[in-house]
Amino acid sequence: MPTFERLEGAVHCDGLPLAELAERFGTPLYVYSAESIITRYREVDDAFRGYPHRLHYALKANSTLGIARLVRSLGAAADANSGGEIDVALRAGFTPPEIVFTGVGKTATELHRAIDLGLRSINAESEGEIERIDAIAAARGTTARVAVRVNPDIDARSHPHISTGLKTNKFGVAISDAREMCLRMRGRRGLRIVGLHSHVGSQITQLEPLRRAAEALVTLARELKDAGITIEHLDIGGGLGISYEGQPVPTAAEYANSVLPIVRESGLDLILEPGRFLVGQAGVLVARVVDIKPQAGGKLFVIVDAGMTELMRPMLYGAYHRIEHVQSVSRPDAICDVVGPICETTDTLGKDRRLAQPEVGDLMAVFDAGAYGAVMASNYNRRPMPAEVLVQNGEATVIRRRQTIDDLVALES
Ligand code: LLP
Repeated sequence: MPTFERLEGAVHCDGLPLAELAERFGTPLYVYSAESIITRYREVDDAFRGYPHRLHYALKANSTLGIARLVRSLGAAADANSGGEIDVALRAGFTPPEIVFTGVGKTATELHRAIDLGLRSINAESEGEIERIDAIAAARGTTARVAVRVNPDIDARSHPHISTGLKTNKFGVAISDAREMCLRMRGRRGLRIVGLHSHVGSQITQLEPLRRAAEALVTLARELKDAGITIEHLDIGGGLGISYEGQPVPTAAEYANSVLPIVRESGLDLILEPGRFLVGQAGVLVARVVDIKPQAGGKLFVIVDAGMTELMRPMLYGAYHRIEHVQSVSRPDAICDVVGPICETTDTLGKDRRLAQPEVGDLMAVFDAGAYGAVMASNYNRRPMPAEVLVQNGEATVIRRRQTIDDLVALES
């Protein structure tokens, strides 16, 4: 059964009508399907079966505790990108040896905590950072497990704002410098280089950049081995894209078939950091139409109660999210700009969409919003963050209640 299915004209999430959920929990509302996340997790895990691997779910895609706990229950470990995500990971039940800590610009406080916890690895981004890790760990009489994030100078051919693998991007240690740097770091008291890491971008829909990045890691691991430095793992990051517009995208099996033959040669444990691929398709944002306005050329503005505060992706990356009526209506089609209520012209969820002419009160579903949706929400215009609901075994559970105005001002004096 597809996750989001139209039954007798009404979109359902795993059997529950979205309209009913919107009535019960209000709008704007994020609805996630546990079943979809479980299926996607198994797809990736199965694809890599037969080779020692671990999925470290990229919490940044969606770290609501209910989602993090669900992913953990499937056997996942975690990829945390900040001190906050480390703490969320711990609260969700991940143990320190199940957490990798990635991210540009780790603060001293974050590094102290990561070192004290004894994470699986701190994915270090620069020589300076590695030196700071060494100094902290040595001063504490301990050894930090470090993976070197390498920048392989590979074009992920994704949106430039979410491409990270070019030498002009701020991420990682240049591949050309990495070997020498590792040699310089050899023998540092506070360090143990346990892995190599790369993440060349997100929403990658061609396998070639991912394959080439894996190749770069394997080559470097071999060079290090020849120089007497043996590591434990290769971390090939996340990045596998999903189909927002119905376009064909690689499957998890195709991904595995493309990178495994390369990685196999190294014999090293494999870490994957998928985010979007696991949760992107599992989520829908439900919004209600609050106003309709005609615009030039017969087009309509369809103003809904969700916008850039709930789902930033269209505004930040020009990202396309399918938008449909939650309840089918038989009205003539209209070309619509589906916009939010925020005081910004960019506040547009979908431009030039052909929809059966919406009316005030209609519910609209914005699809594939499970990744980088709720996590990127903001309180701009003093808008409370939306509620999030997880559908599992025919039941809907609030995994994040809607913020109240009291929540919003709670930190202020
Ligand atoms: N690992 C690292 C080090 C990352 O930086 C990321 C994502 C991931 C894993 C997970 O990547 P994924 O499998 O989800 O592609 N806000 C943007 C996406 C930013 C991705 C940032 N890094 C968007 O909405 O498209």
